[in-house]
Amino acid sequence: MANNTNQAGFASKLGAILAAAGSAVGLGNVWRFPTETGTNGGAAFILIYLLFMVLLAMPIMIAEFAIGRHGQKNVSYSFEKMSGGKKWWKYMGLVPVVSGFLVLSYYAVVAGWTLEYAFQAGINGFAGKMGTQFADDFQAFSSDPLKPLIWLFFMLSLTFGIVAMGVQKGIERGAKIMMPILFIFIAVLVVCSLMLPDASLGLTFLLKPDFSKVTGATALSAMGQAFFSLSVGLCCLCTYACYFRKDIDLIKDGFSVASIDTLVALMSGLIIFPAVYSIPGLQPDAGPSLVFITLPSVFQQVFGGMPAVAYLFSLMFYLLLVMAALTSSISMLEMSAVYFHKKWKITRPQASLGVSLVCLVLGTACSLSFGIWKDVTVFGMGFFDLFDFLVAKFIMPIGGFLTCIFLGWVVDEKVLRSEITNEGTLKQPLYPVFRFIIRYFAPVCILMIFLNELGLFKVIVGLF
Ligand code: ALA
Repeated sequence: MANNTNQAGFASKLGAILAAAGSAVGLGNVWRFPTETGTNGGAAFILIYLLFMVLLAMPIMIAEFAIGRHGQKNVSYSFEKMSGGKKWWKYMGLVPVVSGFLVLSYYAVVAGWTLEYAFQAGINGFAGKMGTQFADDFQAFSSDPLKPLIWLFFMLSLTFGIVAMGVQKGIERGAKIMMPILFIFIAVLVVCSLMLPDASLGLTFLLKPDFSKVTGATALSAMGQAFFSLSVGLCCLCTYACYFRKDIDLIKDGFSVASIDTLVALMSGLIIFPAVYSIPGLQPDAGPSLVFITLPSVFQQVFGGMPAVAYLFSLMFYLLLVMAALTSSISMLEMSAVYFHKKWKITRPQASLGVSLVCLVLGTACSLSFGIWKDVTVFGMGFFDLFDFLVAKFIMPIGGFLTCIFLGWVVDEKVLRSEITNEGTLKQPLYPVFRFIIRYFAPVCILMIFLNELGLFKVIVGLF
């Protein structure tokens, strides 16, 4: 099998898996997953989420892997080559470019917040604060016209620095360093959290399902979360798969990536919910503010008598968030930057710098929409909400749908089989299941999510 060490591909299988897992593991796992779990009733939501992860998000991610790895160059070329030369499909190469700009611009804003919180934790800035002060501080910080922009700049600079170094020296090496640290931090935090008073209440919330709380909306939120977690539809992992070696087992290694992603999400839940339940009166359904308002307050209260532990716990938690956010934003920058690098024949650092600067401008608009620009709206939404809406509610479902139609209906079955079985060298007994999901199950499910997002699902169900 070819080894890509002389090309711009990942040098090793482990590096490829860690980079892909780093791209998947992000704020979606440590911030969005606990938020969604908390507001959707806990264990029952998690079970449905796991189901959609296995039956939907993971197969589509593997489909993206197959497409990217088939071309070994870039997403446009991969789609065109795999379609057997049908030119129209090369325009799918624009999906990662557009989604890269949109997603990084608003994602980097929240990633910047994680830097501020890691910084505050580092200078022991949370010490002695109580309850509502955290809410006031967060409100003041996120609406400040300057502070979040400074952190946005730092976050984009870090991302730029790593992407500019290249696939092997930047992205792969970054993932090989950050992912193990992330795992160590998360494991230590889980153990500490489980030792807190009343941690069992948090465990019950996470492990004992109450299906009476499940509604259609819960199921659709679980589907949306599974999509977000693996960045399905953005062609993010399709971009990375262009750098995969030919000896990657797309199903087995895809399963490893999805398992790492799920494990990090579940472990984040194991950190957050026992901590929340350790303070009487606090509820797990605080929503997006859970991580930036509830948790720092919990850390101070629960470890109040042990300031050193409170300090270490907070610092590790926010550094964990920073690393998770960074490994994802790297892949988001790569999606757009590599396009301009190849298309305009400019250097990788030039392309990465150009994209980062545009994202800085767009991200500034997103950040200001929490403060002085909160009344500036497009279609009734501030810039941050607008970008989130476009990415999560349009590009993800449409990109995922097109990926399934492409692989399930356009690509010659022999070409797909050959890619999944590494040219017949692997048995892949799950191939028929994978193909069935991509051809039938996934497109129907995505259509349902999409119609629901547009508010049309209820209308159609009402007709019957
Ligand atoms: N998959 C990325 C995350 O979960 C977008 O943060």
